[in-house]
Amino acid sequence: MLILGIESSCDETAAAVLRDGRTVLSNVINSQVAVHSPYGGVVPELASRKHLENIYPVVEAALSQAGVTLDDIDGLAVTQGPGLVGALLVGLSFAKGLSAVKGIPYVGVDHIVGHLLSPFLEKEHPEFPYIALVASGGHSSIFLVIDHTTIRPLGRTRDDAAGEAFDKVGKILGLEYPGGPVISRLAEKGNPAAIPFPRAWLGPDSLDFSFSGLKTAVANYVHQRRQKNEPVDIPDVCASFQEAVVEVLCKKVIMAAQQQGISTIALAGGVAANSRLRSTLKDLGASHNIKIFMPSRELCTDNAAMIALAGFYHFSKKATTSFDTDAYSRSPLLHPGFAPNGSSPASLEPRLES
Ligand code: KG4
Ligand code: ZN
Repeated sequence: MLILGIESSCDETAAAVLRDGRTVLSNVINSQVAVHSPYGGVVPELASRKHLENIYPVVEAALSQAGVTLDDIDGLAVTQGPGLVGALLVGLSFAKGLSAVKGIPYVGVDHIVGHLLSPFLEKEHPEFPYIALVASGGHSSIFLVIDHTTIRPLGRTRDDAAGEAFDKVGKILGLEYPGGPVISRLAEKGNPAAIPFPRAWLGPDSLDFSFSGLKTAVANYVHQRRQKNEPVDIPDVCASFQEAVVEVLCKKVIMAAQQQGISTIALAGGVAANSRLRSTLKDLGASHNIKIFMPSRELCTDNAAMIALAGFYHFSKKATTSFDTDAYSRSPLLHPGFAPNGSSPASLEPRLES
């Protein structure tokens, strides 16, 4: 079974061809970082326009790199949400158009489901049930993954997502957008214990996250030093900030596994590309007898292979999406009861538990 995946939820236009839910035949990503970088963040209107320009050549490249044509494709999987609605609509409308013209069934996929299944794109993948930590620019959430389509949220961010905190701290420090990879690089030369930035635990058993206080603490620290004409050691700030994020993410995901009595954890989302997070979680996993799985860095950040993969499992359960389905900005996975046009998106049926 060949699935063409399409992703356009934020600032990457991506398309991929996946065979039998296992083999990635192509994975094409057109990043808009250069477009948004001068503004220090994603400009939604620019993102939509760039997606419009990119979608056709990106899909064409994915097909040709896979050595297939549209006539070989058995199903289309497209990100339906969450994300920027104008950006999502480009991919969703494109998929609907292809589906209508070529008679290929299509399915709308939740972007977060794509991330949390992404470890299955690797040879070594987790067994069910497992705990997934999805840490990206839009989300920091912990899930219990019972099977490919039965997913239970255990904790979520109450304000800024982890990646968002990286990006905002990057901006405070005057670094290039997106802040995550730059901070990660600079942190290698800094001391993670130099500045005692706060960790928000939100109660002894809470699996929720909050990173906005940490971001404000960094802003205050930098501001006060500059006001007093004292130097700001950027690598130390980066390392100390990163350590605060990594410590909270790791301790909470380990706690989730312990609370649920589960000995497998998978890490996903753009922040999962962070070296310090990867090594700290691996060490903690070893000391707690918990197996840790994480996709390669390219599959952590936004891509369409993970969307094709999630679509493959929806198709295996005979799910398809109708043409009148809309894009959605907030995931029904994290906001039960929230659904476009008052209807539950097919991508999360048949057995989403909340
Ligand atoms: O999953 P993703 O590509 O897009 C969303 O779904 O949001 O995640 C993007 C986020 C950005 O906030 C970026 O700064 C962060 O992932 N990121 C990192 C690293 N690489 C990307 N954060 C920390 N360390 C990294 N190495
Ligand atoms: Zn993402």
